[in-house]
Amino acid sequence: MSLHILQPFDAHLHLRTGNMAELVTPMSAAQFADVIVMPNLNPPITTVDHAISYRNYLLEIAKCNYHMAIYLTESTTVEEIQLAAKNPFIIGYKLYPLNATTGSQSGISDIKKVYPLFEKMEKLKVPLLVHGEVTRSDVDIFDREKVFIEEILTDIVQKFPKLRITLEHITTAEAVEFVLSNENVVASITAHHLLINRNAIFTVDEKTALNPHNFCLPVAKTERDRNILIKAATSGNPKFFAGTDSAPHPLSRKESSCGCAGCFTGLHALELYATAFYQFGKLAKLEDFLSIFGRLHYGLEIPSNDYITLGYEKYLIPEKLGEENLVPFMYGQILNWKIIGE
Ligand code: DOR
Ligand code: ZN
Repeated sequence: MSLHILQPFDAHLHLRTGNMAELVTPMSAAQFADVIVMPNLNPPITTVDHAISYRNYLLEIAKCNYHMAIYLTESTTVEEIQLAAKNPFIIGYKLYPLNATTGSQSGISDIKKVYPLFEKMEKLKVPLLVHGEVTRSDVDIFDREKVFIEEILTDIVQKFPKLRITLEHITTAEAVEFVLSNENVVASITAHHLLINRNAIFTVDEKTALNPHNFCLPVAKTERDRNILIKAATSGNPKFFAGTDSAPHPLSRKESSCGCAGCFTGLHALELYATAFYQFGKLAKLEDFLSIFGRLHYGLEIPSNDYITLGYEKYLIPEKLGEENLVPFMYGQILNWKIIGE
């Protein structure tokens, strides 16, 4: 049994710089023909010039079609948005609420301050990619996405109904519902949120223990939420598409007293997505989700004749990679899907 699909598109990817970039970039380039690269570097990528030089840097490491997201800040200017709109390598702006996740120290604290920028983006049809979580300490961490939708996103969509919004890495029933009921809102879905619920953050080898390798943001939610995400991802609705949010951190930063958020799926994202779709008898829907729907949303060319083949074969996920001791998501486990060729 094998699955022959058009070369996939990763709508949300962290590639970093330095040794980590050299380790992970070729892996994603082997899996995906097009990727959207996240700008939460240190310092963040807040200008078109910086995004283009980072893109050139990545091209030196591995060949792939890199589409760059620029970090929206309270200092972003309308003129910069005009420049971004004209540049074919810039895909849109990424909204990080202040301190919501890794590298969000330059994020937005007062959303109203960037409304004039949303107005410009709406006019110029520049997409907004949203990390949808509030960070107030009185909001339970498992409710951060739901409250963001209620308190922040609903108002943005009402004020800017034509703004093209991607709610990134959705994790909740409420997010699926919001996407379904708002015309200009779509969503990316990670492989890890299709494969684990929040119990996995507190389980190691079937024992109850803290598992930092399953900790990411937005944090995984309940089994009910996971089932609703799977239903959305496999529904054939083009509003839901793949975005891995592969987020590599060295082992020392994950197994730490201050453990970073992020699951690394860049090595084996296709195998993971295939595993999730297969579990639910929906392999026939995988190609649209991986290769068509995201590109349609962003207006990217759909490859006509470049394929990748996944075989129904055992694949043992390595425990650690490279000098960074990078631990892949579901390390040490065996999947039944493996890339076997083009
Ligand atoms: O888990 C996460 N890790 N979520 C994000 O939003 C950022 C990412 C990272 O950059 O490590
Ligand atoms: Zn991310």
